[in-house]
Amino acid sequence: MSIIILPLFLIPSITVLGQLTPSPTYSPPTASSGLESSASTPNTQWSNILGNSLYFYDAQRSGKLDQGTYGNRVEWRNDSALQDGSDFNLDLSGGWYDAGDYIKATFPLTFTLFALSWGALTHGQGFDQAKQTAYLDGTLRWGFDWVMKAHPTDDQLFVQVGSGDVDNVYWGGDLNIPTPRPSYPINSSFPGTDAWSSASTAFALGSMLYTPSISYNVTSSSSAPSSIGNSTYSSLLLSHAKSLYQTANTTTPRQTYYTSLGQSVAAYASSNWQDDLTLSALSLAIATNNSQYYLDAYNYYVQYAISGLQEVWNWDSSIPAIYVMFAEIATAKPELAQGAGLDRNLTGWQKETEHFFDSIIDGSFKRSYLTKGGLLYFDGDSDEASLNPAMAVAMLMFKYAPIASSSSKTEQYNDFAQGQLNYMTGKNPMNVPYMVGTHPNSPQNPHSAPASGGSDIKNIRTSPAQEAYVIYGAMVGGPLSDDKFWDWRDDWAQNEVALDYNAMIPTLASMQLINGTADPYYVDIKANTYSIPSGQPCDAALPCGGGGLSKGAKAGIAIGVILGVLLILALIWYWKRRQIGGWWKKGYRR
Ligand SMILES: *[C@@H]1O[C@H](CO)[C@@H](O)[C@H](O)[C@H]1NC(C)=O
Ligand SMILES: *[C@@H]1O[C@H](CO)[C@@H](O)[C@H](O)[C@H]1NC(C)=O
Ligand SMILES: *[C@@H]1O[C@H](CO)[C@@H](O)[C@H](O)[C@H]1NC(C)=O
Ligand SMILES: *[C@@H]1O[C@H](CO)[C@@H](O)[C@H](O)[C@H]1NC(C)=O
Ligand SMILES: *[C@@H]1O[C@H](CO)[C@@H](O)[C@H](O)[C@H]1NC(C)=O
Ligand SMILES: *[C@@H]1O[C@H](CO)[C@@H](O)[C@H](O)[C@H]1NC(C)=O
Ligand SMILES: *[C@@H]1O[C@H](CO)[C@@H](O)[C@H](O)[C@H]1NC(C)=O
Ligand SMILES: *[C@@H]1O[C@H](CO)[C@@H](O)[C@H](O)[C@H]1NC(C)=O
Repeated sequence: MSIIILPLFLIPSITVLGQLTPSPTYSPPTASSGLESSASTPNTQWSNILGNSLYFYDAQRSGKLDQGTYGNRVEWRNDSALQDGSDFNLDLSGGWYDAGDYIKATFPLTFTLFALSWGALTHGQGFDQAKQTAYLDGTLRWGFDWVMKAHPTDDQLFVQVGSGDVDNVYWGGDLNIPTPRPSYPINSSFPGTDAWSSASTAFALGSMLYTPSISYNVTSSSSAPSSIGNSTYSSLLLSHAKSLYQTANTTTPRQTYYTSLGQSVAAYASSNWQDDLTLSALSLAIATNNSQYYLDAYNYYVQYAISGLQEVWNWDSSIPAIYVMFAEIATAKPELAQGAGLDRNLTGWQKETEHFFDSIIDGSFKRSYLTKGGLLYFDGDSDEASLNPAMAVAMLMFKYAPIASSSSKTEQYNDFAQGQLNYMTGKNPMNVPYMVGTHPNSPQNPHSAPASGGSDIKNIRTSPAQEAYVIYGAMVGGPLSDDKFWDWRDDWAQNEVALDYNAMIPTLASMQLINGTADPYYVDIKANTYSIPSGQPCDAALPCGGGGLSKGAKAGIAIGVILGVLLILALIWYWKRRQIGGWWKKGYRR
C-alpha cells in the first residue's frame, strides 16, 4: 500500500471532510424486488424504503455533484447551476432543486431539514438498522452546508435562487438550465420573519441531532442514530440557529418574506410568520438548554393565540409541530419550563396535542375527512398533493403516541398513523405504492424535468413515451379525493416530486424498522394490477371541461391566454407592487 500525498491545491476541493462513509454502499434495487416478502430482521423492504427516500435527495442535488464520501450516486444527473450566487458575488451553488423543476427554494428546504432532523433525533435506530446513517449524514450535510452558504451574514438569508418566469417555461435536462438565475435575499431592510425562523428551527434541530451522546429522552427507547454525533458540526449549526433567531426576533417589522419580496417568491408565500417564530424559539430552547427561549416560545404561543388551532403540518404551517414539541419537552426536558418559572405542564400539552389529533380521527377537524379508500384528506391543502399532509400527520402521531395520556390513545394514534402509511404503500383502491421505483405498480411518470428525459414543454405527457430515468424513492403528489390516480407526467398535482413531500418518509420507515419485522403493504400487490382510470382527472394541473378542440389547439389557446394574462399581471404588478404584496395570501406551487 502506498500513501498518496495530494498537492495542496487539491485539498480544499474535498469539502465534506468528516462525513460518514457508508458501509455497505447502497443503491436502489429494481422495482420488481418490491414483490419479495422480507424474511430478515431488519426488514429489507422497509430498509429499502428508507434508503430510496434518501436517494431521492441525491437526485435533487444542484451544483457540483461529486462531493462527500460517496460522491454522486445518481449516474444520470450532471453538475449544474455552478454560477448560482454570482449576481451577489457569492457562491450559492449546491443545495437541492425544489421539485420537478430547477428552482432552489429555501423555505420548503429548511422545513425538510427540520422534519428529517427532528424525526431522526427520536427515531434514529432505524437508520442504523438499515445501515443508512451515513446517507442521512450526507443528505443533511448537503442541505445544511448550502443553507450556511445562503446565510453569509446575520441578517442576510437567500430565500430563492432561480426565477419562476424563466424556469416555468423550461422543460428539459440539467445541462441546459436557462439563465439568468437571480438570487433573492432577505435582510434587515427586507425582513422575512418566517424564513429566518424556519431556517433557525432547522439548524437548531440539526445541532441537536449532531450533539454527541445527546440527551433528549422522550421515551426510554428514543435515540438518535448512533454514529452521527460531531460536536464541531453541531456547534456550527447552533451558531447559525442563534443568529437567525436573534435576527428574526429583533428585526421590525415582523413580516413574511413574501410581503418583503413579492411575486418573485410567490411559489412558497407563507400565510404568516407567528407559528414559525414560536417553533424556532422552542427548538432553540431544546438545542441550548436555555429557558429564555422557552419563555419566548410560551409567550408567543399565548400572544399569538396558538392554542386549539386546526392547521395541517407543512412548510406553510408549524402549528401541529409546536403542540407535539411542547409535549416532548414536558417529558424530555422539563427543566426548560421550570427555568422559565413555568410548570412543565405535561397534562396541558397532552390535552392540546390530543385535542388536535382526536378532531382529525373523529372527523370534527375543519375541512378534513377520510376518502372512501381511507386517505386523510384536507380540502384545500390536499388538492395539489394529497399524500404529504397525511404522511405529516402520521409521523406526528407515531412520534407522540408513546407519551399520550392513556394507553388507549397510544393505540388509537398508532393505528391511525399506520392506516395512512399503509395507504401510501399500496393499500388503496388503485393498488399503487406511491413511491417511484419501489414496486412494479409504482408511478412510472413522475413530473420531474430531469428524470423525464423530455424537452418538449407542449407534450410533457407523451414526449418521451417512457420516462428516461427512475427517480427512486420519490413520493409523488398523490391521488385525488376520489382515490383515483392518473399516472400522467404532465399532471403535477398528482405526480410531481418535491423535497417537502418526501420529508417524513425516512422517519416513517425508521419507525417501522424499530417497531418490528412486518412487510410494507405492497409486497402483497400483484404486478401490473394498476390501470389509468377512465375519464379526466379534474385537478389543479388538468382542470376539467373543455370542448371539442384538439389538444394542440387547446394548448395553443391556453398558452396565448396565459401569456396575455401574465403580461397584464406583470404590468399591474409593476405599477402596484406594494399593495399587491399585502393582498396575496396563500402560497401555490408552480
Ligand atoms: C466533524 O465535522 C466537521 C465539520 O464538518 C469536520 O471537519 C470533522 O472532520 C468532523 N469530525 C469527525 C471526527 O468526523
Ligand atoms: C446528463 O448528461 C448526459 C450526457 O452526458 C445526458 O445524457 C443526460 O440526459 C443528462 N441528465 C439530465 C438529467 O439532463
Ligand atoms: C437586501 O434585500 C433586497 C431585496 O432582496 C436586495 O435588493 C438587496 O440587494 C439586499 N441588500 C444587500 C446588502 O444584500
Ligand atoms: C437516555 O437514554 C439513554 C439510553 O437509554 C440512557 O443511557 C441515558 O441515561 C438516558 N438519559 C436520561 C437523562 O434519562
Ligand atoms: C425576543 O424578543 C422579545 C421582545 O419582542 C424579548 O422580550 C425577548 O427577550 C427576545 N428573546 C431573546 C432570546 O432575545
Ligand atoms: C444541555 O444539557 C445536556 C444535559 O445536561 C448536555 O448534555 C448538553 O450538552 C447541553 N447542551 C448545551 C448546548 O449546552
Ligand atoms: C398548559 O397547557 C395549556 C394547553 O392545554 C395551555 O393553554 C397553557 O397555557 C399551558 N400552561 C403552561 C404554564 O404551560
Ligand atoms: C408496532 O407494531 C404493532 C404490531 O404490529 C402495532 O400494533 C403497533 O401499532 C405498532 N406501533 C408502531 C409505533 O408502529
